[in-house]
Amino acid sequence: MDHFYSDLHFDLPDKRPFVACNMVMSLDGKVTRGGVLQPGSLGSAFDLHTMRVIRSHFDAVLAGGSTVRQHPFYLGVPPELEHARCEKGLAFQPLSVVLTGSGRLDPGAPLFQDSPRPPVIITSAEGAANLPEEIKNRAVVEVLEQSSPDAICALLWQKHQVRRLLVEGGPSTNFQFMQSRLLDEIFITLAPRLVGLRTDLTLAMGDDILPWPQDTELVSVHRQGSELFLRYRFRWE
Ligand SMILES: NC(=O)c1ccc[n+]([C@@H]2O[C@H](COP(=O)([O-])OP(=O)(O)OC[C@H]3O[C@@H](n4cnc5c(N)ncnc54)[C@H](OP(=O)(O)O)[C@@H]3O)[C@@H](O)[C@H]2O)c1
Repeated sequence: MDHFYSDLHFDLPDKRPFVACNMVMSLDGKVTRGGVLQPGSLGSAFDLHTMRVIRSHFDAVLAGGSTVRQHPFYLGVPPELEHARCEKGLAFQPLSVVLTGSGRLDPGAPLFQDSPRPPVIITSAEGAANLPEEIKNRAVVEVLEQSSPDAICALLWQKHQVRRLLVEGGPSTNFQFMQSRLLDEIFITLAPRLVGLRTDLTLAMGDDILPWPQDTELVSVHRQGSELFLRYRFRWE
């Protein structure tokens, strides 16, 4: 059966990647439960499938170091979605992109041991120096002096031909792309769960109030059981 996100169309900018974010959130606005996100702790199996369907439309999927340390897997699609990607002219798997300042990543992680394409690690000179040799041999290490979202997008556009970039968190990574007015769309799964714990994280977290987009449009709403699948489009000045 076709998924409601099987056929997605995006307005691609001329000079930078189109950027979207996808997150699952509880009814009380939390994206972690007890400080982590485990499979099933917020979203359903259908939400997990939806995450993969959304990935299938993107050239690259990016996550921050903390998320990758918790979920050290390739940010890819299952084999049954590869064909549809190739038919659309995309590579069989999206590129996995990891942001790390510290270089604190595990070389034994499946992301480095069992990946369909070498992941790209965007880091500082210090982070690159800290990366284990095994990771350097299995990944493409990109050093940015200022790893702002603008610089990250420029690098991915120029060196890796990324035209559609999916940001999959966590909240501090999402925040930066929103603050830089680079987020074009957001996919949110509203999961029928309550978390409550004060220290759990929300969808975007940083040290400033975020700018408001000039326009925020609700593009679509889908319901599956008691979960809602929301898609919003932002227009920045
Ligand atoms: N509900 C959901 O859909 C969802 C989705 C994703 C994640 N999560 C959860 O979110 C939590 C993690 O979120 P978080 O906000 O704490 O962390 P995060 O955004 O996953 O990672 C933050 C880390 O990413 C690296 N980083 C971020 N921006 C960078 C930049 N511009 N340049 C270089 N490195 C950069 C740094 O890594 P280093 O520390 O290595 O320097 C930083 O400490 C986890 O519990 C995860 O399970 C939930």
